[in-house]
Amino acid sequence: MKALILVGGFGTRLRPLTLSVPKPLVEFANKPMILHQIEALKAIGVTEVVLAINYQPEVMLNFLKDFETKLGIKIMCSQETEPLGTAGPLALARDKLIDDSGEPFFVLNSDVISEYPLKEMIEFHKSHGGEASIMVTKVAEPSKYGVVVTEESTGQVERFVEKPKIFVGNKINAGIYLLDPSVLDRIELRPTSIEKEIFPKIAAEKKLYAMVLPGFWMDIGQPRDYITGLRLYLDSLRKKSSSRLATGPHVVGNVLVDETSKIGEGCLIGPDVAIGPGCVVESGVRLSRCTIMRGVRIKKHACISSSIIGWHSTVGQWARVENMTILGEDVHVCDEIYSNGGVVLPHKEIKSSILKPEIVM
Ligand code: GDD
Ligand code: MG
Repeated sequence: MKALILVGGFGTRLRPLTLSVPKPLVEFANKPMILHQIEALKAIGVTEVVLAINYQPEVMLNFLKDFETKLGIKIMCSQETEPLGTAGPLALARDKLIDDSGEPFFVLNSDVISEYPLKEMIEFHKSHGGEASIMVTKVAEPSKYGVVVTEESTGQVERFVEKPKIFVGNKINAGIYLLDPSVLDRIELRPTSIEKEIFPKIAAEKKLYAMVLPGFWMDIGQPRDYITGLRLYLDSLRKKSSSRLATGPHVVGNVLVDETSKIGEGCLIGPDVAIGPGCVVESGVRLSRCTIMRGVRIKKHACISSSIIGWHSTVGQWARVENMTILGEDVHVCDEIYSNGGVVLPHKEIKSSILKPEIVM
């Protein structure tokens, strides 16, 4: 079976992290976002993954080469010379997606996280006999997504409305599709949106079906959602394989710590914290609802909450970092500094406090 992951876009909403690596390679719960998806695809028997990409393909491919062999899955790039939107890349990769088997293929948005119930999706697709299946989930704020109105008993999609201005429903497109090869005949090779141009037409012909996604879901393409997504992911990990979570007197709630990181005396870590490899957390540090990327040093008695600390940064003694502070790669926060929502570009030294949310260039 084959799959295509939509990897395009510059990831501007996740800057400054995406100034250092393409969005799909930004770690989420200590693993590059895209590996969560590739592993889930591999687990249900996908053998070839096409990355639909329009930005820095070399960086992605170099990184993923290792995983091709480790996971035993073929990873190919389909590179656009201009952004083709969310449907155009499927037309471009047509030859890579179709073979004699006539099997359906998966399409995933690269910035969503869930339990990926892909096996169930295959069963669902077989059961309805339509042309395309999409996964849907309920959210409180549907206007920033694609809203899907279905016939309750069968899941047949009656309407698909991308980013509606007025309320049409609270079930939204989760960005996980299973499509028959015939869907490719509907897509022209030009910049085009699957949500605005293709799904509404398949729905009108009553050949589009939606399955309600069991478990959690989050689009983690923005800092606030990324931090919420980590909480949901760790909750789910607690239920599924709690042995991967940290334990001990210094741990509160769900915490993921890479085994190569060191945690000092008298720290209090959690809830909802991920600490990547090679980090040093000195004594008396307090961490909650945050992600600490690879190679970070957090000095004595610093306190970090609701923030993301980029690769190889340092946070000084008694510093307080909070409220969606995002430090880019190699940022140095001096001792006793306060950051309230600072968004700091890579390679900066922060010598004075950031009192209200702002970008530090
Ligand atoms: N290759 C390629 N080329 N990929 C692209 C392009 C492009 O020109 N434009 C966007 N993508 C990729 C993005 O990288 C992302 O993985 C996916 O397509 C969706 O684009 P986003 O920019 O993240 O869209 P969104 O979050 O506003 O909305 C989409 O996702 C929602 C769920 O998170 C839509 O699919 C909505 O219907 C959906 O509800
Ligand atoms: Mg998105």
